[in-house]
Amino acid sequence: MVMLSLQSCHEKSAPEKSARKTGLFNSGWKFMLGDIRQACEKNYEDATWRVLNLPHDWSIEADFSADNPATPGGGALPGGIGWYRKTFTVDAADKDKITYIDFDGIYWNSSVWINGQLLGERPSGYISFRYDLTPYLRYGQENTLAVKVDNTRQPNSRWYSGSGIYRNVRLVTVDPLHIGHWGTYVTTTNVSAKSAEVNLQVTLENKGSESRNAEIRSVIIDAGGNPKAETSSRITIGKGGRSETMQTMTLDRPLLWSDTHPYMYTITTQIVENGQVTDEYDTPLGVRSFEFDHAKGFLLNGEQVKIKGVCMHHDLGCLGAAVNVRAMERQLEILKAMGCNGIRTSHNPPAPELLDLCDRMGFIVQNEAFDMWRKRKSPQDYSRFFAEWHERDLTDFILRDRNHPSVFMWSIGNEVLEQWTDMSVDTLDLQQANILFNFASKMLDNEQSDDLHVNSLLTIKLAGMVKELDPTRPVTSGNNEARPVNHLLKSGAMEILGFNYNDNLWENFPEMYPGQKYIITESTSSLMSRGYYEMPSDQVFIRPDRWDLPYFKQGNQCSSYDNSRAPWGTTHERTWQLVKKHDFISGLYIWTGFDYLGEPTPYWWPSRSSYFGIVDLAGFPKDVYYMYQSEWTDKEVLHLFPHWNWEAGQTVDVWAYYNQADEVELFLNGKSLGKRTKKDDEMKVWWRVPYEKGTLKAVSSKDGKEVLVREIKTSGQPVSLRLTADRQALDANGTDLSFITVEALDADGYPVPVAGNSIDFKIEGSGFIAGTDNGDPTDHLSLKKPTRKLFNGKALVVVQSDGKKGDIRLTATATGLEAGTIHITAN
Ligand code: GAL
Repeated sequence: MVMLSLQSCHEKSAPEKSARKTGLFNSGWKFMLGDIRQACEKNYEDATWRVLNLPHDWSIEADFSADNPATPGGGALPGGIGWYRKTFTVDAADKDKITYIDFDGIYWNSSVWINGQLLGERPSGYISFRYDLTPYLRYGQENTLAVKVDNTRQPNSRWYSGSGIYRNVRLVTVDPLHIGHWGTYVTTTNVSAKSAEVNLQVTLENKGSESRNAEIRSVIIDAGGNPKAETSSRITIGKGGRSETMQTMTLDRPLLWSDTHPYMYTITTQIVENGQVTDEYDTPLGVRSFEFDHAKGFLLNGEQVKIKGVCMHHDLGCLGAAVNVRAMERQLEILKAMGCNGIRTSHNPPAPELLDLCDRMGFIVQNEAFDMWRKRKSPQDYSRFFAEWHERDLTDFILRDRNHPSVFMWSIGNEVLEQWTDMSVDTLDLQQANILFNFASKMLDNEQSDDLHVNSLLTIKLAGMVKELDPTRPVTSGNNEARPVNHLLKSGAMEILGFNYNDNLWENFPEMYPGQKYIITESTSSLMSRGYYEMPSDQVFIRPDRWDLPYFKQGNQCSSYDNSRAPWGTTHERTWQLVKKHDFISGLYIWTGFDYLGEPTPYWWPSRSSYFGIVDLAGFPKDVYYMYQSEWTDKEVLHLFPHWNWEAGQTVDVWAYYNQADEVELFLNGKSLGKRTKKDDEMKVWWRVPYEKGTLKAVSSKDGKEVLVREIKTSGQPVSLRLTADRQALDANGTDLSFITVEALDADGYPVPVAGNSIDFKIEGSGFIAGTDNGDPTDHLSLKKPTRKLFNGKALVVVQSDGKKGDIRLTATATGLEAGTIHITAN
């Protein structure tokens, strides 16, 4: 009855259409690399410039080189200055409207001009921002936007950043009376299965020349499109004014949001004046309650949930930093299938679409603001801008992201060097120190602030700013100084103590920090190359020996048994054993879910991407992926490795990850090598096997009944190529992707795990090759080239829709092998 009456009420009162127009503003930009001073002028001649669609990352287009100033730590790709220009006309009918341009992110140091007029500059490469174009637009005529992106001063990042307008751009046209930028804030209170109070703060701006009188109507709509609750308020807002209105609705029997059932509502807010809708704005809503508890860890909707998370950098492998929603979705799908339920946006604000996906797919996000504050980590990094920009950047970050139900905590910094006192880099001028002190002491009683180091005061300031904008989520930080000397921990402003590494201290936390809440913000830093194995597998290779020493080894690969790690890290098995065992640890974010460009620890050039991923850069899982799957999901798992192409006379360690079974029996060429069972908290079983070519077979069983069987065979020489697509039907929308795995097969059609053939790709029809990869951190060929070597038997081709409907045909050829072909359709 309630629903019906709401529905009819909603329909009856549904006024005319909304005045807001929001559209992607990505197509038909012109681009030129170089420092072209006059390119900001309206009439600059750009006819020879390259035409492209955003999002765009120019760094990823180049070959890798040790000479690039980003260094291998930054991905060994070029930076420089790039210019973008776009000419467009605005409807004369929009003359009385307000037109904004929204940039989700530009890396970095952007300056934006409209018709030769400078709109502003923004140093941060990860922050979203808006400019008001209205005063400078020529209606019914041509307008020109010019954007300069300056990524010259290097190195400025500890990982690959990308360069350019690498996130989406939107044009937003609204009535002068409209909902402001990030102008709604939703919170929920008294959440239960029975009901929830939904509180919405709406910020209105009146950029017109008269006072306005309007109604703000908000409706909660469920995932099926049905209205569930609504409210309305009246406001009067003077010319040039701004108003904030609080609305409260009660949602009966809400479907709660969780990592396993991420149910989403939408709140549609309309501004109505004289029966006309002058603006309409959607706010995502996920209803959930949560708390962090010093003993029980993380509780979601009253139930204990372990956060099984991973840290992720923002690059999308061979697509570079350029945002593509399908590529992000694929990464999250692969992680979700492993049982992962958490993402840490290490160490910067993410693309907004990532959070939309996390809302929809059920990830518990730790959203992180900074990798450094005042003290620098790389010579040209954000510490240069921190003093001037941190307040603005932190504020905009929270305002943008605080409506996402997937966001559960804010991290104000990762391993910032302010954890320690170090006077040499620590001298603030007196004026700065005073401002900081005044700000922080407002949040403290006086005696307390007297003893605190300036770094603790800064912590208090940042945490205080976050809490003022969003009191509903706790503030944390990633600390690699786990001892109480840490100025961030000393500040008392951390609501959850976040620790990076230091596994030897984890069990002592309740004693070291009694009554506090704990999370492992970062762990593991294990090092692996997919498909590469070093024995003995029961020896852990720690590389380098000490964090500040170099390390070399022929071939630059790392072992994919869980037996290779950085000195500050842990094996995957040890890490999860500890977190699993202790309820007081809310969860963990493993370093990292996917490999990323840059930071090729333990090596340096010729390596150019990381070894830390559970999944390689191309998106192929490494073996340890299945350890997590066996621990974190109910899906039956039996993963047997390594491959079975070895030399006669070798002894090979054979591992199996399994679950839902009490033992595994291994057979070599039909002969049993014995049954093994995981003891205590072990997460695998293994055998040491004298190699003999043929077939290795594992059988898992429970109560004597077979659960799963896995076989690995010795393959012959490669004779043909096989292409397998994750999706063979694409949306013909110009951005959708098909990820195609390439393998070499032997005469029996069995994949060759050690194949390294070089493969050329040709594409015909309504698509193009957006990138190729193989997960090899030492491959120097540009990731945009239609050629790739197999790395340990696999390569990847990413095919992108070109926007037209039709068939796409991809052919792979390699010398001496039968070609492979695959058909994809774009509809
Ligand atoms: C951590 C740091 C990460 C990454 C990692 C590599 O200390 O927070 O950004 O550098 O080490 O092990």
